Amino acid sequence: MPVLAYLHRLCGELADILSADIEVSGTEASVPTAQILAIGLIVNELATNAKKHGAGPIKITFTSDGAGQFELCVLDEGTGLPEGFTMNSKGTRGLGMKVVTVLVEQLDGNLTAHPNPAGRGACFKVAFPQR
Ligand SMILES: Nc1ncnc2c1ncn2[C@@H]1O[C@H](COP(=O)(O)OP(=O)(O)OP(=O)(O)O)[C@@H](O)[C@H]1O
Ligand SMILES: [Mg+2]
Repeated sequence: MPVLAYLHRLCGELADILSADIEVSGTEASVPTAQILAIGLIVNELATNAKKHGAGPIKITFTSDGAGQFELCVLDEGTGLPEGFTMNSKGTRGLGMKVVTVLVEQLDGNLTAHPNPAGRGACFKVAFPQR
């Protein structure tokens, strides 16, 4: 299933629901349906967080390194992650991030959080192998 086309459609709907400006870019790739479902749920949680805890515009990128590794990023331009935020500390992780963590495991992927390289806001990265 073409993942970028799917993300365009999903984010069009999410943008309406969240009243957010969501931009999707990257490279098209064919991904199995099971992975598409996990990717959709991850984007739903992370874009909702970007709207709720960050500020727009929200950027979603999907890229392939050409060597069998995919990367999905969700970026916002809010105030960034709270002090001491880590993916697995109980104090900073709510239900949403727990769901994302389980979905990333399903992809045999790796989830990391960074400051947005554009200067302000958060950047969540999911790296996972092509199947
Ligand atoms: N894009 C973001 N910008 C700033 N802080 C964020 C962002 N995403 C997550 N956070 C921080 O991480 C915390 C955990 O996020 P998580 O999605 O797990 O919980 P939540 O959004 O507060 O609640 P919910 O269970 O409804 O998702 C948030 O409460 C927030 O402090
Ligand atoms: Mg959340």
